[in-house]
Amino acid sequence: MKTKIGVLVSGGGTNLQALLDAQAAGGLPSGEIVLVISSRPDAYALTRAELAGVRAAVAVRKGRPQAEFEAELLALLAESGVELVILAGFLSILSADFIRQFPNRIVNIHPSLIPAFCGEGFYGLRVHEAALLRGVKLTGATVHFVNEIPDGGKILLQKAVAVEEGDTPAILQRRVMEQAEWLLLPAAAEMVAKSIAQEKENGYL
Ligand code: GAR
Repeated sequence: MKTKIGVLVSGGGTNLQALLDAQAAGGLPSGEIVLVISSRPDAYALTRAELAGVRAAVAVRKGRPQAEFEAELLALLAESGVELVILAGFLSILSADFIRQFPNRIVNIHPSLIPAFCGEGFYGLRVHEAALLRGVKLTGATVHFVNEIPDGGKILLQKAVAVEEGDTPAILQRRVMEQAEWLLLPAAAEMVAKSIAQEKENGYL
């Protein structure tokens, strides 16, 4: 039985697209993306989900209590029977209470080589701005399990990407996406989906 995957997004959704493309190309044989939830109603990621024929939902984060937001997320995930949650450019921090409901069942992609340039406040372009300011010559991306420490969970996959002379944050972001993120995330999704599927077959779940 395939592992049911829910993808949480907040923005453009290029990492979601990488997952959808991998699935269409047979690169995610142990999983099935059954739901995409956006924390913002205007995220282009929602259109990507709809175009791929995947159920898309919005759970607005802005202007409401965290507990109410997370209760809505949990209800949507449960309705679709989601077993593995993938954070693909999801820019809200989840509470320890929420994370405890999915031990080693939430995976996040972060656009740096953790433990560099990570934790609260480091997201999206800000990560690349910080890397350029510091002058690192190598950066990259990391996929890790999510625990109660922001960007602090066990690392699953990591790939280094070179910083080049004249890089702007946007240029560097694009290179890190192309050379690392869009490859790592589908690979990690398959890895974790496969191990969950195997645990189910062996009767551990
Ligand atoms: C990606 O670079 C992702 O790694 C980053 O946001 C971007 C989302 O792009 N995530 C974080 O910074 C999490 N701390 P996308 O919406 O096109 O996938």
